Amino acid sequence: MSTLRDQLAALPSFPHPLPVLDPEQAPEDPHELFSRWFQDAIDSGQRQPHAMTFTSIDGEAAVGRTLIVKDIDERGFHFSTHRTSRKGQQIEANPRASMIFFWRESGRQVRVTGVVHALSREESERDWQARPSYTGSPNPDWQLYALEPREFEFMQAREDRNHTRVEYIRHGPTWSHGTVDTPAG
Ligand SMILES: Cc1cc2nc3c(=O)[nH]c(=O)nc-3n(C[C@H](O)[C@H](O)[C@H](O)COP(=O)(O)O)c2cc1C
Repeated sequence: MSTLRDQLAALPSFPHPLPVLDPEQAPEDPHELFSRWFQDAIDSGQRQPHAMTFTSIDGEAAVGRTLIVKDIDERGFHFSTHRTSRKGQQIEANPRASMIFFWRESGRQVRVTGVVHALSREESERDWQARPSYTGSPNPDWQLYALEPREFEFMQAREDRNHTRVEYIRHGPTWSHGTVDTPAG
């Protein structure tokens, strides 16, 4: 009789073939690599390439949930939600947060860590009006935010499971980067 463990063990973790990330070729600016991977995910027709796991801090514990990224500009990675939601209250108390993107068809994951800023009321209202469920009433509780990145970790899965990871850390206006050598699964 097949156990759940056997079923899970038989599932492939990653597709074949996988793209390669050469750390020597990593650009100075992580936004460039992010844009390249994001555009690849969009162009190749991956489902919901703009969905990510957004993690905020509830007291001592990290709490994650799926959100949609709405835009990316010089202020950061935009997302929107209700200010009075749990995540809204958590951001209010502690603006540190992260986003994890997982593009399964290319075996790629990116973690973006930083600080959340609320964007303007006008932009929040525009975002609210663009929702399919908009009925014409304004919603002062709806808020557009930007996660201003301080760190990025790019992971490219490899078939030998020796996944390639490149980490970027911001120092004021510039970024440093290098490979991450701790075990990657
Ligand atoms: C694919 C997907 C996209 C979602 N996008 C959003 C979003 O953009 N904004 C949002 O507030 N909730 C979104 N949700 C719902 C959240 O995951 C979450 O359940 C909800 O916001 C309440 O979270 P909270 O109680 O931690 O604040 C999405 C859920 C899924 C599955």
